[in-house]
Amino acid sequence: MRLVVTKLNVGIWAASYLKGTLQAFAPSLQRPFVLGLPTGDTVRDMYAMLRTFAQARTLSFQHLITFNLDEYVGIPADHPQSYHSYMYRHLFDYVPIPPEHIFMPNGQAADLPAECAHYEREIARVGGINLVIGGVGHNGHIAFNEPGTPFHSRTHVVDLTPDTLEVNARFFGGDTQRVPCRAITLGIGTILDAKELVFLASGVKKAAAVVHGLTQKPTLDWPVSALQLHPRATLVADLDACILLSGELKNRLDEARACNPQADEWILEIKK
Ligand code: GLP
Repeated sequence: MRLVVTKLNVGIWAASYLKGTLQAFAPSLQRPFVLGLPTGDTVRDMYAMLRTFAQARTLSFQHLITFNLDEYVGIPADHPQSYHSYMYRHLFDYVPIPPEHIFMPNGQAADLPAECAHYEREIARVGGINLVIGGVGHNGHIAFNEPGTPFHSRTHVVDLTPDTLEVNARFFGGDTQRVPCRAITLGIGTILDAKELVFLASGVKKAAAVVHGLTQKPTLDWPVSALQLHPRATLVADLDACILLSGELKNRLDEARACNPQADEWILEIKK
């Protein structure tokens, strides 16, 4: 995997990267591009940039199929804090993606295991995911795969950890009790099956996840460390998210910055 340390906002970085990727891929009816999409604060600017691209018609959203990575269980899709609402508010209300190309887990399904199996089948039916863009949780979770989730897991229902409930309480009036305590999430195995992964970490609150994800051997304690197992994975972090790096990795970053202080980003290959 590689680490990209950027001076830019990581969301803006991701929007530009996605634009370049889509333009190079040139999706068509016979060969659509399948994209895994996240929610959260980190990616708000990515969606703002994608809306700008759509408005300026500098990026085509034709032949794009999207799968959201996760959704709360137990709140209706039209709840303002559902990930369904988030996606329409930030992207789908503004870009011409046909509704039949938009997939989101249904956190209200009566039979949740059947919904998870159905979601996996839908991903398989379109030929798998080309690119997953994701955020990293404060505890290293990817999508809603909390620490301890097996790396071979498929789409499943998860019990959110008390600290995730606390962190996400900010979206529910600061009240932990109001945060749904379960969610549907793509599994780590499902994520690792995608052809390419780009995960984003911004700010000091993600610094522990960045350092453990990169410097420990892949460990269930830090789900983000699973990225090390993927042949085309990138962790994009801003400088604040890198403040806990130490030892060899910190030296390499310092060296890269010293060699090219004007650069917007520095790229480090991370050996397994
Ligand atoms: C949340 C979501 C993830 C998100 C991550 C980071 O709990 N389930 O999909 O990427 O945590 O969120 P944020 O960007 O708000 O820090």
